Amino acid sequence: KNISILGVPMDLGQMRRGVDMGPSAIRYAGVVERLEALGYKINDLGNIEIEQAERVQNPETNLRNLKAVADGSEKLAAGIHGIIDNGEFPLIFGGDHSIALGTLAGVAKHYENLGVIWYDAHGDLNTADTSPSGNIHGMPLAASIGIGHPALTGIGGYSPKIKPENIVIIGARSLDEGERELIKEKGIKVYTMHEIDRLGMTKVMEESIAYLKERNVDGVHLSLDLDGLDPNDAPGVGTPVIGGISYRESHLAMEMLAESDIITSAEFVEVNPILDEKNKTANVAVALMGSLFGEKLL
Ligand code: ARG
Ligand code: MN
Ligand code: MN
Ligand code: MN
Repeated sequence: KNISILGVPMDLGQMRRGVDMGPSAIRYAGVVERLEALGYKINDLGNIEIEQAERVQNPETNLRNLKAVADGSEKLAAGIHGIIDNGEFPLIFGGDHSIALGTLAGVAKHYENLGVIWYDAHGDLNTADTSPSGNIHGMPLAASIGIGHPALTGIGGYSPKIKPENIVIIGARSLDEGERELIKEKGIKVYTMHEIDRLGMTKVMEESIAYLKERNVDGVHLSLDLDGLDPNDAPGVGTPVIGGISYRESHLAMEMLAESDIITSAEFVEVNPILDEKNKTANVAVALMGSLFGEKLL
């Protein structure tokens, strides 16, 4: 299958500038060559155009840069429709995690029962009411199950995008109170760092894959926030949390996803080259994409 790449230079979902350069950093790290070497035909569609001006607070909500984030997500959703209609695999580069609003709006439309793997230190399950920050990158997963401000839940013209039972969060170690409540209320499957330490990544991935298959999903979107990894391995992120998933565990996770052959779309988000060490985090992202798409040493 051919892969279509789409970059989303969005940094309005949070407050640290520079994550809009994530797509450039990932391309600079050699993603096209890396995936071509695996035998894929790569169609790099370039970047979605993102409004750079908005830095004003919408007086009616505490949602920072709401209009620009929502508009960018609509454009992204439209771009994804084109990719899937062409029969290609959508590979999306962020940008901050608010772009998942658009990714999921585009992808979920093409599936009856989409599954999602949310690889992240955070739950991104806040709403305007529960958010400690007003940053929309902490809200896309809640919005995708239909919870939150209508301007976020309604991206793509429909809601919800996914069922809470079809979500697996992996790597969580920073959850706000409202997110914890939502996880319990909706029965969202979460592997925190506790379970990763206790069971090992092999078991966590075996269980996650089996869980999604039992749910009879007809596609699985991988939303990989680089802050899911430990900041030692992925320092170029805006909201680092110590005690994260290692580089090696992450490669294992990607390799197991490649073997399972369940992933039908993917996004890699929150790479911020301004906060990085010599593009280390983009290099890690590209290495993980190699494993996700079947790279093997022997
Ligand atoms: N939970 C915090 C918030 O809502 C942090 C969210 C971080 N999200 C991310 N995609 N990095 O502000
Ligand atoms: Mn910017
Ligand atoms: Mn995160
Ligand atoms: Mn995130």
